[in-house]
This record gives sequence, structure tokens and C-alpha cells, in this order.
Amino acid sequence: MVGMPGSGKSTVGRQLARRLGARFIDTDAVIEERIGEPIRSFFDRHGEAAFRDIEAAVLDESSQMPGAVLSTGGGAVVREPNRRLLHERCTVVYLMSTPDELFRRLRHDTQRPLLQVANPLAKLQELYAARDPLYREAAHFTVETGRPSVATLVNMILMQL
Ligand code: S3P
Repeated sequence: MVGMPGSGKSTVGRQLARRLGARFIDTDAVIEERIGEPIRSFFDRHGEAAFRDIEAAVLDESSQMPGAVLSTGGGAVVREPNRRLLHERCTVVYLMSTPDELFRRLRHDTQRPLLQVANPLAKLQELYAARDPLYREAAHFTVETGRPSVATLVNMILMQL
């Protein structure tokens, strides 16, 4: 699963794994286990580049787990080698949500470092504009998350696998 923060990658990925009887890996959770602290405080202390280095290593390892369903962080596609690696090793699903929809879901969020800014909607719009083409490049297909329930989204993905 790739897509913006709040697009439902973990929720949909977990349900999809359950339906497939597959292992579910949330790469942000693996990163937090590895760094021993929340991503937000790691970002504050070491900066985004240090986080992206660890993220790249975790994506490399996780994408080699046969049959697993992965949910990735929203910025996993920012680095070109990550996009290529995911596209070559995995069936990549882009969970596409509009910035307005993401803002509705995330407006009270305090854990995502990139959204701790004065105008989170503008930040989501900016991230979306920059990343939507990158998610599409990494993905094999796109599912729009707007109206369907999680169960429906999982069915839509299962039909395309
Ligand atoms: C990030 C998204 C987060 C997490 C980190 C950076 C991003 O994951 O990896 O805070 O760059 O968009 P979610 O997409 O699960 O929020």
C-alpha cells in the first residue's frame, strides 16, 4: 500500500492481509521498533534525511518478505530507488485520497511530523501535488478511497490482484 498520510494504508492493508491469510507489515511500526522512539521525536532530533535512510533500509527488507502485505509511510515514494524497488518486488496499490478528504481525517492528528504546521491543509495540498505522480509511478493500480467502506476497498483490491 502506498499513498498519502491518512489514506488508510494501515487499515486497508491489515484487512487485506486478514482476507488473504497473509502476514501484515506496517513499515512505520518496524521503523519505530528499530529507532526505539516515535517517528515524530526522531524527526525532531535527527531530521527528515536520517529518517528516510532508515525507511529505505526497512522498505528493502520488508519488500523481500514473500506473500506479506505491506503498508508504507506516505513518503516512501519520495526516493526513486524506493519506487523502483517496490514496483519490481511487490504488487503496489495506490490508495488515492484528495487533500480535503485527508484533512478531514487528520485535522486533529499530533503524530505526523510533516503536518505539525500552521496550515496543515495547505501542506497536504502541497504534498499531494508533489507526490501523486510518484505514487502513480510506483503503483500497479490505483484505488480511490472517497466513498467506499474499508471492506469494499479490500474487495476492489482483491479483484485486481
Ligand atoms: C510521512 C508519513 C508517515 C511517516 C512519517 C513521514 C510522510 O506515515 O512515515 O511521518 O512523509 O508523509 P503515514 O503515511 O502512515 O502517516
